[in-house]
Amino acid sequence: MRIDIVSIFPEYFAPLDVSLLGKARRRGLVDVTVHDLREWTHDRHRTVDDTPYGGGPGMVMKPEPWGEALDTIAPPPVTPRLVVPTPSGRPFTQALAVEYAAEPWLLFACGRYEGIDSRVVAAARERMPVDEVGIGDYVLAGGEVAVLVMVEAVSRLLPGVLGNLDSVTDDSFAPGAMETLLEGPIYTKPPVWRDRPVPEVLLSGNHGAIARWRRDQALRRTAAHRPDLVARLTGLDDHDRRVLR
Ligand code: ADE
Repeated sequence: MRIDIVSIFPEYFAPLDVSLLGKARRRGLVDVTVHDLREWTHDRHRTVDDTPYGGGPGMVMKPEPWGEALDTIAPPPVTPRLVVPTPSGRPFTQALAVEYAAEPWLLFACGRYEGIDSRVVAAARERMPVDEVGIGDYVLAGGEVAVLVMVEAVSRLLPGVLGNLDSVTDDSFAPGAMETLLEGPIYTKPPVWRDRPVPEVLLSGNHGAIARWRRDQALRRTAAHRPDLVARLTGLDDHDRRVLR
């Protein structure tokens, strides 16, 4: 997969060299290039922002550097999927991460200040798929951290990036059996730590009982932390309903 990122703070993306993703890049599984938007300015001050038409606080990113950046990185007719992080976008979910992981090429455009002049997205939509995406109901100082979140969520889904394929399918929010259930508690050795034993069933070797226990824990945790998800659960049996009471 190819990933391009445009930002006025390329140094924000240093963590992409670390850990899982750093290793995936070195192994050639994902090809990430970070671009400085100011490369596409032409004035002495390398200006990327201006005051908003109609008034109001803050500054707006000028369209010209963005237009040139997108045309240079993705010259027509080539078409990456353009992702513009913004708190006013559609929600980023595991389902969208799975969709992105199937794309050959993603281009992320990081806005700062109050955002990018809306004509940039409007013009880009005429020649490539564009998603405006929010990672949660809070406001960050810019799109950079949102892009780090999305790139990490997407790249761990790419073939060969994670050692163990099952750890992807077991995730909270993974499509399939655990869909809309949060993962329950997990344990490793030692069997007793500070007088706290690991739940006995996990040491039993009874795989059916372990699966049932894990599902019960997942149901309880989901009810405690995300009652909105419990409301959406389908196919609950009598046992599930007892667990949830
Ligand atoms: N930029 C600022 N806040 C954001 C958010 N919550 N999601 C995506 N991009 C953002």
